[in-house]
Amino acid sequence: MFVTPGGVLAFRAHFIIEGAWREDGKGLSIWDTFAHTPLKVGNDDNGDIACDSYHRIDEDVALLKKLGLTHYRFSISWPRILPDGTTSFINKAGLKYYENLIDALLAANIQPQVTIYHWDLPQALQDVKGWENDTIVDRFKEYADVLFSHLGHKVKFWITLNEPYNVAQIGHGISFRPGTAPYIVAHNLIKAHAEAWHLYNDTYRAKQGGIISLSINSDWAEPRNPYKQEDIDAARRFVQFFIGWFADPVFKNGDYNEVMKTMIRERSLAQGFAKSRLPEFTEEEKRRIKGTFDYFGFNHYTTVLAYNFKYATIIQATKAETDRSWLGSGSFWLKVTPFGFRKILKYIKEEYGNPPIYITENGISERGEVDLNDVWRKHYYTSYINEALKAYKLDGADIRGYTAWTLMDNLEWATGFSDRFGLYYVNRSDPALPRIAKQSAEHYTRIIHCNGFPN
Ligand code: NOJ
Repeated sequence: MFVTPGGVLAFRAHFIIEGAWREDGKGLSIWDTFAHTPLKVGNDDNGDIACDSYHRIDEDVALLKKLGLTHYRFSISWPRILPDGTTSFINKAGLKYYENLIDALLAANIQPQVTIYHWDLPQALQDVKGWENDTIVDRFKEYADVLFSHLGHKVKFWITLNEPYNVAQIGHGISFRPGTAPYIVAHNLIKAHAEAWHLYNDTYRAKQGGIISLSINSDWAEPRNPYKQEDIDAARRFVQFFIGWFADPVFKNGDYNEVMKTMIRERSLAQGFAKSRLPEFTEEEKRRIKGTFDYFGFNHYTTVLAYNFKYATIIQATKAETDRSWLGSGSFWLKVTPFGFRKILKYIKEEYGNPPIYITENGISERGEVDLNDVWRKHYYTSYINEALKAYKLDGADIRGYTAWTLMDNLEWATGFSDRFGLYYVNRSDPALPRIAKQSAEHYTRIIHCNGFPN
């Protein structure tokens, strides 16, 4: 969209759509383990079959074509390529599957946008402490190297990490008592991203000519009481902690921001830790991390109201709630707040020196009874894309592309299949798993054809 003519995109992630969890030599991922543990995933759903996309390249690419998409974002499953997480064995069948998918996309004139890590860590690496173990930085770089060398001649858009915030915060933070894990995980994610970026930059860019960065997610925050300085500060801090945790090191100076450093240090000492739980980068690491981007990949869904609170959460250092007048969705955390989209895009522009922005996710879910006349999704895309257009045309944010989340209903991680984000409904009670267009699919095609302005 915008700069890329007609470039409105759609998306999927391996684990939640592919299925084929044990086929062709794939290793186990942490999400296979998690989903097979009773009571972890909603309705005890799992990704064993998911949408069976592993076996339906042609059918799915035909859907993309029908929608009129110019790009398709998908992720590669690390254990499908490296079953035990290391290069001790490279699974050729796994590579072949992605090569076939990429070939089918290119033949349909759809450009692949490939995410290297979208949360399904090989279980074998988790067994040695996963992202908490700093050897993961080398493992990730080796894995990225395999992808660049085997697929890089066909892929021109790479995303190292999807939503590292959630890996650190939801994966290692919320469910545990205050500890150092989320901060160590984040530290290693940032270093892993930087090393993969340098590898591409030094070894592959000249031959392959692609671009590479990461996809950062963040909600926008408004002050709960706009006349109260404390709430205004809380809203600012919320965004500084959310987007800034990963964006400041990469897009600014190679380091965490001072607000985070000060608050986490003070809180750590008050909680009896000997020093801040936020690790420090060495000067050499800061130099390696700073500037490791070709664009700003951004996932966004919603806005919250922030206010100061004595018992602030550890990571966000604010409390947040929502306005009861905001329309909801199938997901408890997602309120329809298009105004926040423009504001946060403008924030990125101003805070990070007007980088090229690719919106790599944006969308809405429903749950419960199936209604193919999904007016809420049509409204969501129209109003959010309109706000993105305002950010582009009126605020001067350098937005280069927009990717809708998502092509078809799939496994919404720990929520299971019940929260449905797709433009296509997948009838799971029919073993053929037919993809059935919701009305938003046609609406989205119209948006694509008029590059953001539907009639
Ligand atoms: C973020 C994640 O990247 C994606 O996998 C998820 O399903 C959507 N948000 C919706 O929650």
